Amino acid sequence: MNVKPDFTRHANQAATAPAFFSVHDIHAYYGESYIVQGVSFNVHEGEILALLGRNGAGKTSTLRTCARVGDPELRKGEIWLDHQPLHKMKAHEASAAGLGLVPEDRRIIPGLTVEENIKLAQIAPPVGWGLDRLYELFPRLGERRKQEGTTLSGGEQQMLAIARALARDVKVLLLDEPYEGLAPVIVDKIEEALIEIKSLGMTTVLVEQNAVRALKLADRAVILDTGGIVFDGTAAEVLENEELRAEYLAI
Ligand SMILES: Nc1ncnc2c1ncn2[C@@H]1O[C@H](COP(=O)(O)OP(=O)(O)OP(=O)(O)O)[C@@H](O)[C@H]1O
Ligand SMILES: [Mg+2]
Repeated sequence: MNVKPDFTRHANQAATAPAFFSVHDIHAYYGESYIVQGVSFNVHEGEILALLGRNGAGKTSTLRTCARVGDPELRKGEIWLDHQPLHKMKAHEASAAGLGLVPEDRRIIPGLTVEENIKLAQIAPPVGWGLDRLYELFPRLGERRKQEGTTLSGGEQQMLAIARALARDVKVLLLDEPYEGLAPVIVDKIEEALIEIKSLGMTTVLVEQNAVRALKLADRAVILDTGGIVFDGTAAEVLENEELRAEYLAI
């Protein structure tokens, strides 16, 4: 019998350790489709966690479950952010509690300028970074602040999506494929911003198809496969483990 190595030992241990952002045994459904099948991971304050896995592994569904958007529906498990029970909250409450989801499609609001998109995020408390600070992080947004958000390039729209999350008082940033479709030089710019944000103490969960790039940036990594965790460890361990990369990441 071919017994697969067990890379999950840390996942089960980690669930009981106190962490700043803690996802414990979550199960979520799209209608009757059981998709997130008992996912657990911990993210320590100030850390970047790479959440990886093949297409359809459940990465987006896991982030959406954490953000409490309702689809998929969380039916079991707990999600804690800085001692607050997100599993008991609706999406707007989770957002107010500091959960900042930057979705893959970026959701720039049509008909609004860059600045109006940001200001809309600041309409309700708790407000985070101000405009000056955001434009310092992303000078391109400052230059284009009067331009309609949807007319920006893909990279600039990604910057705007991240800026909008930071404009709220965010405690954990969940980024769904921020590098997708972007030229390498633009990816460099986004990555520089993520490093800058981390240096200020931000806690981040990074979902990326560009696994090598994500692993070089991340402190730790979790690998998902068919809705469950198959690895929880350091980013360096994944980079060094050819078997693991070939099996679950195809890199
Ligand atoms: N709205 C939905 N209704 C039903 N099933 C869905 C829905 N969205 C996703 N799924 C299914 O859930 C599973 C996980 O999808 P998910 O989008 O979370 O994966 P992913 O890891 O983000 O994939 P990708 O790398 O392609 O972005 C897939 O089998 C997908 O078909
Ligand atoms: Mg996805």
